[in-house]
Amino acid sequence: MQIHKHDVIIIGAGGAGLMAALYASKGGADVAVVSKLYPTRSHTGTAQGGIGAALGNLDEDKPIYHTYDTVKGGDYLTDQAAAKILAENAVEAVIELEHMGLPFDRTSEKRISQRRFGGHTRNFGEELVRRACHAADRTGHMILQTLYQQCIKNEVNFFDEFQVVDMIVVDGAVAGVVAIELGTGEFHIFHGKASFFASGGWGRCWSVTSNAHSLTGDGAAIALRRGVPLQDMEFFQFHPTGIYRMGILITEGVRGEGGVLINSQGERFMERYAPSAKDLASRDVVSRAIYLETRAGRSIKNRGYVHLDVRPQTVNRYFAEEGRERKDFINGETIERKLPDILDFCRTYLGVDPVLEPMPVQPTAHYAMGGIPTNMDAEVIIDAAGTVMPGAYAAGETACVSVHGANRLGTNSLVDLVVFGRRGGMKAAEYVKGVDWKPLPADAGAEIQAEFERIRNGSGASRPGELRHLMQATMMDNVGVFRTEETLRQGIKDLAELRERFYKDLHIDDKSRVFNTDLMEAWELGCLLDLADVTARTAIERKESRGAHSREDFKKRDDENWLAHSLIYQRGPLSAPEYEAHFDKQVDLSLWEEEVAQGVPEEQQKFRPKERVY
Ligand code: FUM
Repeated sequence: MQIHKHDVIIIGAGGAGLMAALYASKGGADVAVVSKLYPTRSHTGTAQGGIGAALGNLDEDKPIYHTYDTVKGGDYLTDQAAAKILAENAVEAVIELEHMGLPFDRTSEKRISQRRFGGHTRNFGEELVRRACHAADRTGHMILQTLYQQCIKNEVNFFDEFQVVDMIVVDGAVAGVVAIELGTGEFHIFHGKASFFASGGWGRCWSVTSNAHSLTGDGAAIALRRGVPLQDMEFFQFHPTGIYRMGILITEGVRGEGGVLINSQGERFMERYAPSAKDLASRDVVSRAIYLETRAGRSIKNRGYVHLDVRPQTVNRYFAEEGRERKDFINGETIERKLPDILDFCRTYLGVDPVLEPMPVQPTAHYAMGGIPTNMDAEVIIDAAGTVMPGAYAAGETACVSVHGANRLGTNSLVDLVVFGRRGGMKAAEYVKGVDWKPLPADAGAEIQAEFERIRNGSGASRPGELRHLMQATMMDNVGVFRTEETLRQGIKDLAELRERFYKDLHIDDKSRVFNTDLMEAWELGCLLDLADVTARTAIERKESRGAHSREDFKKRDDENWLAHSLIYQRGPLSAPEYEAHFDKQVDLSLWEEEVAQGVPEEQQKFRPKERVY
């Protein structure tokens, strides 16, 4: 096996990985980015509507309002100190991106343009605010291009199309990772003082998802298998507006520009569910509303979708009713300019022109709030007490800081990856200066090589495609927007059967080594099965409804018993894992505690967990 030696090994080349790479290299570290995709094809590129920062360019705004929205949006499971850092650092991060060359849209005064997004408010929920800084509906794509260019300029080493499949743990510390070079099928060892997971989410556990084919949770699954717990896995966000049946994201920016959701009766139903924020309530609220409309027989053609209407005549009618100024009214040209990709997707995939017709949309599995637990410097922690695993870092969707709590606020994924990618990159650069190299074990990589041989040589009857399809179906039906004990039990049972077939009855057709996507997809399916399993298992344990975790048998949020993060550990062999789930990691409530210490009367305490009203 070839061995590559670099101070910091970054796994994944999306926004978090690139930001971490940039800052680790600026800190003097020799950095390698190992990515299964060419960097600019990473999933950050699909983030559309904007990156939230309280610049106040169009409406009065402050980081403390952004902090509040983040905490409330997360249904009070958000760690409050982390939310404060996120909101405060967001402002300088966006300015920094602008200075790096990111082509944000502009206001008439040439400032960075901002648009409305779900749950973004001024003055602690008083009214909606324009906070999402955008480059048309290609904001993530622009972030990715900008950061990649900066990394190249900073001489970061890139290993493109190398897929990380294991991590090497020596005496409780991480000494590097094992990767497969996709073009040759050869295994490589990346020996590093620090290994930084920024490998994205696992929306591919569900059948309707906004996530790319590559979002298979590799990093989180690898960490779980090597003894790291995963935090808050029961919370997975469904974005309300995916293209019907395909799941492709239709940005919340459409509603930010005035688009409205309409049921089969022609009713703007969000007025009933969220009288104040309406279509721009938080995502969990809007996704549930679409499901409830469907159950009540009010989806379009009774097929489980509703219409998202951004036609100028519709938008302007509601703007007029709301007393918005005429200068805010939109026309076809506004939509073409601000939402070009959305128009393109709908015209291409659906034959629907959103300037002239409403778009058919349904909730789509979008974002993991949970993941590899970290502290605010992206150091991986392995227990409720916050014990750091030396040499291990994580940021972005694969990590859980926890800044998104039980439900992420729109645009905060991009903020998360630049803010915590940067903090982690700096921390890793500092760390590698002060530690010695851990020698690699003689058998490094042997176990994962054997696992790949098992998959390659399987002579059973179960094809990965079939197992994946069945996993996605059970996750959609049983571990989706609404859950009960019964559905979750069914999900766990189905997953156990699928896992049995995966380990005992697998068959792949392609036995070759060069670009063997059959083999890699089979291995990725194993990652998805693990993550689906821990999602269902933590979901069945959490007997309350909070944020994206909506239990029909426990309809209320229960702060007395469940205001805590979950940590789930996997033990035993891969083929028959045992799980250990704990719900004792405290939520950081420091902003509320400060209010209490300052003697703020209870009814005026902004950060006290309370019922969310939008
Ligand atoms: O709706 C969107 O543009 C998605 C953004 C996000 O997930 O934050």
